[in-house]
Amino acid sequence: NASGAKAGKTRNIGEILDESGKNCIVFYGSQTGTAEDYASRLAKEGKSRFGLETMVADLEDFDIDSLDTVTSDKVVMFVLATYGEGEPTDNAVEFFEFLTGDEPAFSQSSDVPLGSLNYVGFGLGNNTYEHYNLMIRAVDKALQKLGANRIGEAGEGDDGAGTMEEDFLAWKEPMWTALADKMGLEEREAVYEPIFSITESSATESSLVYLGEPNKMHLDGKSQGPFNAHNPYVAPIAESHELFTVKDRNCLHIEVDVSGSNVSYQTGDHLAVWPSNAGAEVDRFLDIVDLAAQRDTVVSVRALEATTKVPFPAPTTYDAIVRYHMEICGPVSRQFVATLAAFAPDEASKAEMTKLGGDKDYFHEKVSAHSLNIAGLLKAVSKGKKWASIPFSAFVEGINKLQPRYYSISSSAVVQPKKISITAVVESQVIPGREDNLRGVATNYLYALKQKQNSDPSPDAFGLTYQTAGPRNKYDGIQVPVHVRHSNFKLPSDPSKPIILVGPGTGVAPFRAFVQERAKLAADGEAVGKTLLFFGCRKSTEDFLYKDEWEEYKRVLGDNFELVTAFSREGKNKVYVQHRLKERAEEVNKLLESKAYIYVCGDASHMAREVNTVVGQIIAGQRGISEAKGDEIVKSMRAANQYQEDVWS
Ligand code: FAD
Ligand code: 2AM
Repeated sequence: NASGAKAGKTRNIGEILDESGKNCIVFYGSQTGTAEDYASRLAKEGKSRFGLETMVADLEDFDIDSLDTVTSDKVVMFVLATYGEGEPTDNAVEFFEFLTGDEPAFSQSSDVPLGSLNYVGFGLGNNTYEHYNLMIRAVDKALQKLGANRIGEAGEGDDGAGTMEEDFLAWKEPMWTALADKMGLEEREAVYEPIFSITESSATESSLVYLGEPNKMHLDGKSQGPFNAHNPYVAPIAESHELFTVKDRNCLHIEVDVSGSNVSYQTGDHLAVWPSNAGAEVDRFLDIVDLAAQRDTVVSVRALEATTKVPFPAPTTYDAIVRYHMEICGPVSRQFVATLAAFAPDEASKAEMTKLGGDKDYFHEKVSAHSLNIAGLLKAVSKGKKWASIPFSAFVEGINKLQPRYYSISSSAVVQPKKISITAVVESQVIPGREDNLRGVATNYLYALKQKQNSDPSPDAFGLTYQTAGPRNKYDGIQVPVHVRHSNFKLPSDPSKPIILVGPGTGVAPFRAFVQERAKLAADGEAVGKTLLFFGCRKSTEDFLYKDEWEEYKRVLGDNFELVTAFSREGKNKVYVQHRLKERAEEVNKLLESKAYIYVCGDASHMAREVNTVVGQIIAGQRGISEAKGDEIVKSMRAANQYQEDVWS
């Protein structure tokens, strides 16, 4: 990492800015890379539009108690994602605890420790979660309290409403105006300046060229732990089968074998899957940007400034960059479209790109409404003409980094410590006006691996080919790069405690693990409490996940295990898990009074909220108290970990 904070180097923010001649540092608190991408965009725009000397920085790489060493002729930007239940991202934990702690002790003592600090803040959150954008709100408050001077508003982007990009664009314009005013910056016509130099490499020895390997150890074929978000384990797939019994939808049960590694997990953790893009998508992208013929050209990638990180290892090839490191299938940023206008192959395309970039509603109508990705957009705008003059650096900067996807582990670590299973619905949507279906990157990759694993008649899903990182067959067989992420979603340590599990759809994944574990403990003679599982799906004959397994667990756990089903599309009216909870109000309340733990997993946007409300109502109804009091009790149960969620949107 090139943040200037390598071993032996200073971690003092003021010193680093002075040493490197910078007057703007953009810190990111990022879990999946999105906040990091927005931070890079701010840094880039500050430089090209306002001549700021910017750098992007990982909060983890600096001593946050040196924030008071930044002088008033500079600005510090914070781009902070709120993760899960209002938590800081892993790289922002220390920063957050320090700043929001009782009395943060800064390197220089003063009554107004941050009196000379100018800052800018933008948060990335999801309004379907209770603690919406808690990070930026709390950090902003703490900075204000310490006397720092905020420039512009503290912006908030909402992933839940799907408006992150537009929220960001709407926030940053007035912020730039205020910042330019404060620092006396003059806006200039933004001319694209690459931040990476990408040139044909002289490295001819193929063993030195990265073809998707995430790091040097993998390149050398000596991959070793610890395996984490920087270093996946390439795990053989031990088992992969279909769980649905309908033709048009797929849900995979996949088991990866980690016995060849020191990878371990706990029941309730998440498995991160590192996907690669579908061959057809890679081809489409390379074709429209006129790189198809050069796809295997070996290139060196160099950051033009010491404080910029190259986001993937090099030397590598265009093909490998696009296939393994770029989110080429995802939504396109409107700002990026505006940047690309300058490189249009003809005047009409240039005008169209400028219009798309500048007009939010037009962009929605032409691009978002059809879920176009970058290649689809470029092709539609130019009517197929190649975009040959876009510098490749612009893609590296303007397209998000391809991120691992998380899955709730559906196996118990007690039962199968070295075989990790996940339960994943394959994403595929028909979108009007799109050439083909919108297909989820990771789930279709997993689906293709399943077809291959089982030598199914069509080995590559949908006629698309996938390559697992390292196509030189270092990873023989059918394998997938993964790492385990710790989660706080955990069974009570005392198995005799009763538990209530609410998991419709793939939300049942971690509960398969929970029930599997309790059945094992019971079989081993331990006292195991009641397990009441609420599961919902469309039809008992279509998407009833693990239907037969539940019966086996029942044989071991007896009456202590009960599965309550809600089939939403079998009767006239929709029946959901929360309706079933209500029907069992008395029992649910009794269990909660006897200190049962309650767990909710699956859809964050509607289901988890509605279940929360219903549990509050059950408590209120059964205990003869107001709904507001019932809600408060749920809140305190959450605080005491008696009510736990593992939800996503
Ligand atoms: P992606 O490629 O990421 O696409 C996802 C969605 O993004 C698409 O369906 C579409 O709505 C949108 N999208 C993509 N491209 C575009 C475009 N060009 N324009 C507009 N919209 C677009 N999933 C499970 O199935 N099982 C689990 O147990 C599970 N557990 C999870 C646990 C956690 C903690 C989290 C955070 C998520 C979990 N998920 C789980 C969800 C999972 O991580 C993935 O998000 C999901 O599988 C989709 O990944 P994908 O790569 O296939 O789809
Ligand atoms: P539906 O698709 O028929 O509406 C798994 O996806 C199950 O969750 C399906 O039966 C689905 O029903 C159901 N579901 C959809 N919305 C829900 C909600 N708000 N609360 C609980 N379950 C829901």
